Amino acid sequence: MIMNVELEKNKIIRINGPAAIKVINGSIKILGATYNEGERLIINKYRSYALKCIDDKAVIEVSLGDGGAIEEPSEGEEVVDIWEENIGKIVEECRSRKCRIIVVGPVESGKSSLTAFIANMSLEKGLKPIVIDADVGQADIGPPGFISAAIVENKILWLRDLKANYLKIVGSITPAHVMHKIISNTMFLVNCVKDSGDIIIIDTDGWVQGYQAIEYKIDLVRAINPTHVIVLADKQLANALENAFKDNTSINVVHLPSPKVVRKRDRDDRRYLRSKSYRRYLEDGKIRKIKLREIGLIGSALFIGEKVDLNTLREILKPSNITPLYASALHNTLFIVVDKQQVNIRSIVEAVSQKLGFSEVYVFTKGFEKGLLVGLIGEDPNSEVPGIVTSIDFNKEEISIQTKYEGKIRAIIFSKIKLSDEWEEVGKPSRYMI
Ligand SMILES: Nc1ncnc2c1ncn2[C@@H]1O[C@H](COP(=O)(O)OP(=O)(O)O)[C@@H](O)[C@H]1O
Ligand SMILES: [Mg+2]
Repeated sequence: MIMNVELEKNKIIRINGPAAIKVINGSIKILGATYNEGERLIINKYRSYALKCIDDKAVIEVSLGDGGAIEEPSEGEEVVDIWEENIGKIVEECRSRKCRIIVVGPVESGKSSLTAFIANMSLEKGLKPIVIDADVGQADIGPPGFISAAIVENKILWLRDLKANYLKIVGSITPAHVMHKIISNTMFLVNCVKDSGDIIIIDTDGWVQGYQAIEYKIDLVRAINPTHVIVLADKQLANALENAFKDNTSINVVHLPSPKVVRKRDRDDRRYLRSKSYRRYLEDGKIRKIKLREIGLIGSALFIGEKVDLNTLREILKPSNITPLYASALHNTLFIVVDKQQVNIRSIVEAVSQKLGFSEVYVFTKGFEKGLLVGLIGEDPNSEVPGIVTSIDFNKEEISIQTKYEGKIRAIIFSKIKLSDEWEEVGKPSRYMI
């Protein structure tokens, strides 16, 4: 459906994607960016935005796709004017000194939109913005499980329009399990990009409910030492942060409202968007074979330990009809890779631990390695390129990894994320994934 829409000065409408828009005449603003006569833009089907006329009059041509809509917001539903006023002031402050802005708030409160909004406004004021996407669950720039940094050169309508300049692997899509990795990697990236732009905007995950989540956000803020913390929607979160930093005059906590009506994403949408992100970075990658002994290995219990000779294990396992392929020992734990599944695994484990004197025995079954997401350290020491394990030949001690990266691989960092052939997460993360 294609239609022309005429807008008066300061008129705000809400557009739900998918929608393609062409400015026929006048100028409009979306997400802090101005679009003039002749310019076109696309609103993705997973997004909705407020569009504002900033001329005396504007005419736009809107083509709506399936599920797309134009809506007239009721009083108080749209908050772009409040965003514009507050962000305008903050960006103005950032002209005279480098700024670091961290955006926090619940899921779907508009964190990523506000991040893009700040980037767009900065560009319009002639500043160079850099976005760090520290939301490992709904990662928009890098693949899920990674933290990314991107220098913003052109106006954007979604963080997914950006390409990562740097990637760091965290290895989980649930922040609660990896808070220290999120904090350290975000800090790393802030340091990495701090001289490449004027304003760093850090988008975060939506886990803000409860004491543990808030404490983690406070720790993250302390580590980043930002000039501004923007808290969306959640008053209690805003109070907690204001309180934590009330003595610190160099950290400015600003509480802003969220748009009241938004295009919501359900669990399936979120899963689909994650799989799309994995695909973007991994699909069409070539298979690379790498000798395990020749590179650094991080995040693997199996490879951190000392290799164990298989002869004794072979004898012990013979009656149960399974063959050990690889084994290693770390303090009092023995890790074994066996060739096939065994229903009677508990008695095998007991036999092994008794005979060899280990207090814990952990068994992996061949095939367990397929689909593990990894980060590869290559030529750029500041970035970890995504890859996916296709198999490990334990005899040759050689790992096969699918990746788009073609340079020298110096180390592999294993994650706790395993992907299916459809690029969706499978299984539950366990203590030892490898
Ligand atoms: N001003 C707005 N009006 C209506 N919907 C909006 C507006 N700004 C953002 N949205 C929509 O709100 C939803 C949640 O925004 P998002 O930035 O992804 O939140 P978060 O990053 O906090 O999860 C998205 O569908 C987005 O398109
Ligand atoms: Mg987000």
